Amino acid sequence: MRYRIAPLFCRPWTLNGIAPRLIESHYENNYGGALNRLNAITAELEALDPATTPAAVIHRLKRDEMIALNSTLLHELYFASLGGDGRTLPDALADAVARDFGSVERWRHEFVALASVLAGGSGWVLLSYVPRDGRLINQTGADHGQSIAGAIPILALDMYEHAYHLEFGANASAYIAAFMRNIDWAAVHGRYQDAIKVAPPRPLEQKQFANVPSVTAEEVKAMQDSGAAVQIVDVRPKHYASRAADMMDGAVWRDPERVAEWIGTLSKDEPVVTFCVYGFHIGCETAAALRNAGFDARYMAGGHYAWKAIKGPVKLFK
Ligand SMILES: [Fe+2]
Repeated sequence: MRYRIAPLFCRPWTLNGIAPRLIESHYENNYGGALNRLNAITAELEALDPATTPAAVIHRLKRDEMIALNSTLLHELYFASLGGDGRTLPDALADAVARDFGSVERWRHEFVALASVLAGGSGWVLLSYVPRDGRLINQTGADHGQSIAGAIPILALDMYEHAYHLEFGANASAYIAAFMRNIDWAAVHGRYQDAIKVAPPRPLEQKQFANVPSVTAEEVKAMQDSGAAVQIVDVRPKHYASRAADMMDGAVWRDPERVAEWIGTLSKDEPVVTFCVYGFHIGCETAAALRNAGFDARYMAGGHYAWKAIKGPVKLFK
């Protein structure tokens, strides 16, 4: 047996308005059921020969494995989310929630609203941490197979009917209120502290241009929108630019192979932004050449396509 059952994290007899038998049934039948399915599916997967088994069979088993594994993980998180007084957030977590939701009250209203929508249906409501953005976010999952990729749930509310019907019947709002009364915020904070240690996805690194400052497409857009004086030079290679249909509005195109011919048209009193197609080489090299000549030049990361992707204004190429 590959997957082992996790002991019940919360103490059912301490919960306020959630009867022990509801937690016991949930733990034994639904969490235990998911774990048993997971082990059975895993055994099936390990027993088959992937070289001879039809791909559709493998695919179905892997899909079932993912659902059972996610159900197992989320149920463990759900039980670990309960056992507190639902009120007292540790200061550091309260600050993080206020930073990302406006206030703890706003977070609570959004979380409960998401749960209410799932009442009578099924699914999960999760408070998750997204390492890439360094932010907390609420999400719902209509089944075990849906979650934010790369996000780390730190609080789970089970809105499957099996989580409340036994005691609450159709009165899902009473169940939601009882859940909220029992959140173990100290445990949530412990998981938040663990989650923020996870490194965000590695950013694009261009070691050869480490000394050339860059600017994001959004920052260039903000400069344009504010009317700031900036000279923007599209230096997409001539063979590419000659086929281009459009270019950034507010930019001028210059041939990156003839910098010496046009460098004199730029002013040293205003910053310069250069960019190429994707932001890998030409824009960086041109910015470096301009900096060597004494200009306050930066390259726009992501180039022309980053600009297009943020829906920056474009004009016909000329
Ligand atoms: Fe459940």
